[in-house]
Amino acid sequence: MTVPKILFFDSGMGGLSVFRKTHRLNPQAAYFYLFDHECFPYGNKSEVFLRQRVTALLQELSEVVHPDIIVIACNTASTTVLVHEREVFTLPIVGVVPAIKPAAAVSRNKRIALLATPGTVKRAYIDFLINEFAYDCKVQRVGTEDLVRLAESALLNACKAHDTLIGSGFKYCSREALERVLEPITSLRVEKKPDTVVLGCTHFPLLREQICAILGPEVTLVDSGEAIGRRVQTILQRLAADVAHKDEREEHDEHEPQRALSSVQPAQSEPTGAQIAFYTGKVTPEDQERFSSTFAHFGFDRVQPMVRKGSSCC
Ligand code: DGL
Repeated sequence: MTVPKILFFDSGMGGLSVFRKTHRLNPQAAYFYLFDHECFPYGNKSEVFLRQRVTALLQELSEVVHPDIIVIACNTASTTVLVHEREVFTLPIVGVVPAIKPAAAVSRNKRIALLATPGTVKRAYIDFLINEFAYDCKVQRVGTEDLVRLAESALLNACKAHDTLIGSGFKYCSREALERVLEPITSLRVEKKPDTVVLGCTHFPLLREQICAILGPEVTLVDSGEAIGRRVQTILQRLAADVAHKDEREEHDEHEPQRALSSVQPAQSEPTGAQIAFYTGKVTPEDQERFSSTFAHFGFDRVQPMVRKGSSCC
């Protein structure tokens, strides 16, 4: 019996929307979460910067946490760095990218809106996804940094008040501000309106209910959270099977000394569930308090600064 370790990564709180789905499907794993608060938000950063930054952070924290799987729970980062990270790391890397394929499959009027960060909507990776899976659809790209900030602060404030965004209406997110963000979609004439909207940033499912209230029930909202949870489940099953095979082989090899079979650590007294969240940069005591209440809400034991090797800057 082993406890696999999963490291989640995002610029901020958005990855928690994916963590929630993944944890529900895979409660037996130990979870760590790194958010790059120092360089939040990612949507306005260059691809070169993101590639260097994300690689450095993941490498440094991996030396501390020794994860078995990394989940890049950030569309902005994944659409830029995924191929590169898979070359750098030997462990499985799961990347969250906009759910364009499922959106094209469910859209009846073949009009889709991609709601994502300004960086994500411009990526070549998005052109690829559209050409490959949504070539028969009209895809409207809506890039917004405002919605990232709205979702980030709404979640932090709701958790600070020991409340949830689900069922709280517009208490933690201004309805007017959200209406402004969604105007490029809501202002379209009926025959041009998308019937399906891709929530192509992990922050946006946090405000799913509020977005739905403005777009109306006739619009289907699609995100990648559930699919990521299932992907992690499949990888965990494969890792467990690999360990079982190695165990079996070693039992038959009397000359082979006892050694660690994989990076999957023995369970021993280690508890499963959500463990530690790490953030980059310096934060105010008020921020620290908001981080603590938010991660406690998601079941994490504690939130602490990530100790970096050199000085960083973004
Ligand atoms: N949550 C992220 C995403 O999925 C990043 C948002 C940002 O930092 O701009 O794209």
